[in-house]
Amino acid sequence: MCEPFDNNEKKNNQEKPEQRNPTNCSNPDAKKKRKRKEVAIFGNYRNYYGYRIGQELDEDPRLKVMKKEWFEGKDCLDIGCNSGIITITIAKKFSCSSILGVDIDGARIDDAQWTLKKIVKRSCKMQSTTNKPAEENSATELQSDLRRRVSGNSDRGGDLFHIVSFEKGNFVQNWHPPKNTLYHAILCLSVTKWIHLNWGDDGLITLFSKVWRLLHPGGVFILEPQAWISYSKNRLVSKTATDNYQNIQVGPEDFQDILLDKIGFRTVENITSGLSGSKTGFNRPILAFWK
Ligand SMILES: C[S@@+](CC[C@H](N)C(=O)[O-])C[C@H]1O[C@@H](n2cnc3c(N)ncnc32)[C@H](O)[C@@H]1O
Repeated sequence: MCEPFDNNEKKNNQEKPEQRNPTNCSNPDAKKKRKRKEVAIFGNYRNYYGYRIGQELDEDPRLKVMKKEWFEGKDCLDIGCNSGIITITIAKKFSCSSILGVDIDGARIDDAQWTLKKIVKRSCKMQSTTNKPAEENSATELQSDLRRRVSGNSDRGGDLFHIVSFEKGNFVQNWHPPKNTLYHAILCLSVTKWIHLNWGDDGLITLFSKVWRLLHPGGVFILEPQAWISYSKNRLVSKTATDNYQNIQVGPEDFQDILLDKIGFRTVENITSGLSGSKTGFNRPILAFWK
């Protein structure tokens, strides 16, 4: 069975100019048609939030089930941050002390840095326009799409540069935080399938154990796993994924028991019930585990 975001993936897999293959095309139109597809082997989709949140949603519905007290004044980590929209929104909405987004794809990290700059610039501009008399404020500015999607309680503008940062890294294999850093909250949203397909059961256990090690006692791990049924659609993204798919022994339905019984988390809260308004194909459970 196909995962519903099939079409979106196609939309998303736009070609980079350097990926064209000029050798077998003489006609420029034919060349365009024979563009090689960019395959997001790590789930590293370009414009992920364009189709996950879309124009019609105010904000990512997942944020509605997260609690401010998990993040406020806390040091946070977002594993697989993609273009950073959730990372930045959490920083703004829940007033983190710091939040670091890590992603395996350097291009997504570039996108995230760019988004951060844009939001900071807008916040600063907003602050200066709100100081102007009301008739001088531009309605377009006030209604800007970015501001709507990345709305927050605080408008600390430039502060965000000190709070939010992004780093390229493979969380499973070679990414390490600065020495002795521990986090109060770690997010891992829609990433487990990609880690599972690329690094198998061992990769998944490495992910869970590393998260546990990097959390403060009392810290929270917020997990949004993809369902097993959705793995089959992506199993052909690479030979590695195909091989791992065949050898996977541990399914997403086992994650909770593994985290509680083997990794050592104390308790779990299933916060899925409060979730509504997710786009088709993104109705995934969200679990919060406490160390
Ligand atoms: C489907 S996107 C989810 C984005 C975001 N977490 C969300 O749910 O809004 C998965 C992201 O995980 C990243 N990723 C996959 N494997 C990773 C790894 N081993 N280390 C860091 N990032 C990884 C991908 O590059 C991609 O951007």
